[in-house]
Amino acid sequence: MAYKNIILEKKDGIAFIKINRPKVLNALNGGTIGEITKAVLELEKDDKIKVAVLTGEGKAFIAGADISAMSNMTPLEAKEFAEHGHNMLNTIEKSRLPFIAAVNGYALGGGCETLMACDIVIAGKSALLGQPEINLGISPGFGGTQRLARLVGRMKAKELLLTGRNVSAEEAQSIGLVNMVVDDDKLTETAEKIAGKIASKSSVQTNFIKALVNKGVDIDLATANSLEISYFSSSFSTHDQKEGMKAFLEKRKPDFKGN
Ligand code: CAA
Repeated sequence: MAYKNIILEKKDGIAFIKINRPKVLNALNGGTIGEITKAVLELEKDDKIKVAVLTGEGKAFIAGADISAMSNMTPLEAKEFAEHGHNMLNTIEKSRLPFIAAVNGYALGGGCETLMACDIVIAGKSALLGQPEINLGISPGFGGTQRLARLVGRMKAKELLLTGRNVSAEEAQSIGLVNMVVDDDKLTETAEKIAGKIASKSSVQTNFIKALVNKGVDIDLATANSLEISYFSSSFSTHDQKEGMKAFLEKRKPDFKGN
């Protein structure tokens, strides 16, 4: 389908979703949230796609949920808006595709919440991340209080949420909010390189690993380990397990087929 607020491109097994509202620093309004959700569901069905990169056009990744759109919302409208945002982020989190957030510039409020639903976060040196909602007289509505606490721990999360202090890319990396920081002009190249590496693996296993880690952190260890045993054993019915082990023994590169 044609998109108005995002640009969707596909190349060599990698999908690139670029949020394209640079005039408002890629603020998330209802339309943009809907388009991102639709794009993820479209990619989900495309067998050729193995991994996705999410980024923003211009000087921001996403400067938050759209404040103009939210300013006159009733509580009921705000509830529907928050559910719309949560649905988008749950769709990314539950997707079979690993998502790489390539964070170019501001990633505030809904922007920080979006990168936390991704699987790997690469930030340009000049990126600024945070949950400044408190400065607007609201608390986060797209999972900020929950995913941030799970990622960086309760103490650090509460400090950032209660003060509304934004953090540099370096500080974000030091608290576990970002995997790596690169020069701004190396961001796209680095994201593409990591995406290419993931695309060359067995997509059955990239899907399994993402699902196991995401499901496992929210349940008890014994149940999570049982889940791992069941995914591990079912791998032995796949072409890719046979090919991966055969290729190792024959001292050649494996040719994974994603089944
Ligand atoms: N919503 C709507 N418009 C936004 C926006 C947002 N979140 N962020 C920036 N814009 C708009 C500005 O209003 C401005 O529009 P005009 O040119 O029409 O005035 C344009 O984008 C450029 O922004 P600035 O002139 O402010 O750019 P700057 O470089 O001086 O400042 C900034 C950049 C520090 C990111 C600043 O724009 C800012 O503080 N933005 C808001 C950040 C924020 O509070 N985000 C949280 C939103 S609430 C949320 O996300 C709730 C949730 O959890 C769901």
